[in-house]
Amino acid sequence: MAEKWTPSSWRQKPILQVPDYPDQAALKVAEQRLASFPPLVFAGEARRLKSALADVANGDAFLLQGGDCAESFAEHGADNIRDFFRAFLQMAVVLTFGAQLPVVKVGRIAGQFAKPRSSNTEKQGDVELPSYRGDIINDIAFTPESRIPDPERQIMAYRQSAATLNLLRAFAMGGYANLENVHQWMLGFVKESPQGERYRKLADRISETMEFMRAIGITSETNPRLRETDFYTSHEALLLGYEEAMTRVDSTSGEWYATSGHMIWIGDRTRQPDGAHVEYFRGIKNPIGLKCGPSLQPDELIKLIDILNPENEAGRLTLICRFGYDKVADHLPGLIRAVEKEGRKVVWSCDPMHGNTISLNGYKTRPFERVLSEVESFFQIHRSEGTHPGGVHFEMTGKDVTECTGGARALTGDDLADRYHTYCDPRLNADQALELAFLLAERMKEAHDEKRAMSSVRA
Ligand code: PEP
Ligand code: CO
Repeated sequence: MAEKWTPSSWRQKPILQVPDYPDQAALKVAEQRLASFPPLVFAGEARRLKSALADVANGDAFLLQGGDCAESFAEHGADNIRDFFRAFLQMAVVLTFGAQLPVVKVGRIAGQFAKPRSSNTEKQGDVELPSYRGDIINDIAFTPESRIPDPERQIMAYRQSAATLNLLRAFAMGGYANLENVHQWMLGFVKESPQGERYRKLADRISETMEFMRAIGITSETNPRLRETDFYTSHEALLLGYEEAMTRVDSTSGEWYATSGHMIWIGDRTRQPDGAHVEYFRGIKNPIGLKCGPSLQPDELIKLIDILNPENEAGRLTLICRFGYDKVADHLPGLIRAVEKEGRKVVWSCDPMHGNTISLNGYKTRPFERVLSEVESFFQIHRSEGTHPGGVHFEMTGKDVTECTGGARALTGDDLADRYHTYCDPRLNADQALELAFLLAERMKEAHDEKRAMSSVRA
């Protein structure tokens, strides 16, 4: 019999990656205030996402998840949100065309603020200070005052999430995501690139199809599916005090939901089966993610699935694999076989970012070709195991940053200094993200055509 779960039962368990708040009384006050604020998302929306993810688990849809490594207070503006949303919509269209499957759209946004760190301190020259842990906890500036965890930041993160979500809902439902605008989603700087040309051709084909549909009476005025899109939010639920305050009972089902975002995930560093994060996650009903890195053994994965998805509900659990381009072949097949043998329903997703970070000219970067190589291996391995490569998880932005090397514009180590803006890990810029979407779409189309050919031979 499992022990009784409450939104605060995680407090009795060992916990990693906790900030050291000097003023515990102020922390308590902030958490109490948060608990009195309105939820950011509704349980019904989280259920809807879970059911879309169940389609992914069953091989009938594809998951696209992406956004900033860490959102920041300083860069909170309409332009950033719009550019991200545009780049994301473009990728989704490209992937829908390639996979010939519905694409479930989940942003790393409107709540992606807390960061796990590999070291508790950061050293610059002779000065050693506590590490930056994300804007919801402390400030990135390298001064002793900035690095003190400040509970008031949780309130600011909540308010920023609410404002971001408000704009995203308007974009998704208010006409911006109308497929008839497929040409207008093009970002200025992408227009001039090889991806721009490729995208324009695809957008022409979609427009042509839309005109045909209009001629037979299917238009965006009569059909909301063409006019609106389902867009969901997600983040790593690392800061459990904040999450607890945002955990609410759904009045229609009487069950507990995290209302800080539609989907939340457990990071690779905090997935201990007897730890605080797993304890918190087991009690909420949202769709959840679990990051799977090279140290995760198949038997431990099954143990975690037992705790996190005891009813084997499709769509509840997404396994976000992040091994590294040179390690994926060693680790992924074993995990897939264990899950298949036990008959567990999961979504398999590939995060080709976090296992491929290197240091170059004093910057953390990710070579585009390694990112691509990990996703390609992920697809190949699923093909040979006979399982569905359900989705991808990227760190990306709609801006023209220079944080990852490579891609069609062949960014080099010397370019990194130009526009290296990330608060944490290096992100794909919009051009690189779109290029990746095109390359994946091609692979998916090949697999799709092959499957169709096979079934027509059989028929
Ligand atoms: C992240 O997604 O930003 C992250 C820290 O990932 P991981 O837990 O996989 O290292
Ligand atoms: Co990251």
